[in-house]
Amino acid sequence: MIGVAIVGLGYIGKVHLQTLLRIPGVKVKALVGRRVERLRELAETYGVPKVTDDYTELLADPEIQVVHNCTPNHLHYPINRAFLQAGKHILSEKPLATTSQETAELARLAEQNSLLTGINFCYRYYPAVQEAAAQVRNGALGKVHTVIGSYLQDWLLYDTDYDWRLEKDAAGSSNVIGDIGSHWFHLAQFVTGSRITEVMADLKTTLPVRKKPCAGGEEGQYTEYEVEVEDYGSILVHFDSGASGVFTVSQLCAGRKCWIDLQVYGFKAGLAWNHERSTQLWIGHRSQANQFLMESPQLQLPETKRYALLPTGHPIGYHDAVYNMFRDFYLNLGLKLDGREPTHPLPDFAEGHRELLITEAILQSHQEKRWVEVP
Ligand SMILES: NC(=O)c1ccc[n+]([C@@H]2O[C@H](COP(=O)([O-])OP(=O)(O)OC[C@H]3O[C@@H](n4cnc5c(N)ncnc54)[C@H](O)[C@@H]3O)[C@@H](O)[C@H]2O)c1
Repeated sequence: MIGVAIVGLGYIGKVHLQTLLRIPGVKVKALVGRRVERLRELAETYGVPKVTDDYTELLADPEIQVVHNCTPNHLHYPINRAFLQAGKHILSEKPLATTSQETAELARLAEQNSLLTGINFCYRYYPAVQEAAAQVRNGALGKVHTVIGSYLQDWLLYDTDYDWRLEKDAAGSSNVIGDIGSHWFHLAQFVTGSRITEVMADLKTTLPVRKKPCAGGEEGQYTEYEVEVEDYGSILVHFDSGASGVFTVSQLCAGRKCWIDLQVYGFKAGLAWNHERSTQLWIGHRSQANQFLMESPQLQLPETKRYALLPTGHPIGYHDAVYNMFRDFYLNLGLKLDGREPTHPLPDFAEGHRELLITEAILQSHQEKRWVEVP
């Protein structure tokens, strides 16, 4: 049994907890959070033996081999660093940290200590996305020339909508680019198999003053808060393959909940995928009728069938995409602990570092109003 601790049990921490119950050979042994009383209820429900509000208690705990870090962004660096130094494998939430100095150090520490790392870029684990990447790899599209898309949400549309993601101290210097832009450009690079090398960005804080709920105050009591981070961005991108592209991200697009749209066009065919219809892969043709491939363990390419967990016609969902990610992580960990090479490509801390470099290049491009190379 591999012993696991989860730090941060908010929205995504609970998704990690529930998903880990499905992974064979893994036992969640500790929950770490700020409100121990609430954690106790969760621990009882899911049979977790230990709860604490202090993650440092687990650094020397021999029962814990893997840590899932699900805290807000500013805590990713100190918590990931402490556990890497303590020799624990880590599956962290994105973004890996808030600056590229921090992410470089985390990637270096993981490498030096020979630890397995992963970042929960879960959208790439939908079967249709795996299929899209495999079709690009096997040449079905021909040379890719254009990649376009968006990631749109509406949960920050009103000035009374509030979250730690709007505060620099917790989110880092970026809100929407680091939060959901990172998902989009990770997907675009994964599906095309190429890297973003240059960016040209236009960012905006659509609502620069928001109503922040007063701490401990009655419902409806607010203070005015000046938001310094962006909630909208449109970015032109160049890929190392020679492809060009553009994407838009926003958290204020009424009606769009988790609208991740990715379109990839080559000289032979095009592909399009949208998270709100995640089972479908659109395949576009110039000289014949277009197609829709439904995710399917029967109809997908041999290397992507394992991600389509149910018989054709039974759609999988977000929890299953996260499961697909965790399954590959723990399969790799099993191989590593046996002294063998991991076989499943994973978004790791080195990848998390590159995503931060892209985020920083986007922020710099907007500030300087010019194209910026990703280092
Ligand atoms: N991969 C994805 O699809 C995805 C989805 C949502 C969130 N995320 C990422 O996950 C992270 C958390 O986001 P969320 O939406 O779950 O936020 P959240 O606010 O719902 O949860 C964060 C939790 O961390 C806890 N916390 C704060 N300080 C702590 C500390 N010192 N020790 C332990 N726990 C502490 C909070 O009490 C809270 O329960 C963010 O970095 C976010 O970018 C990723």
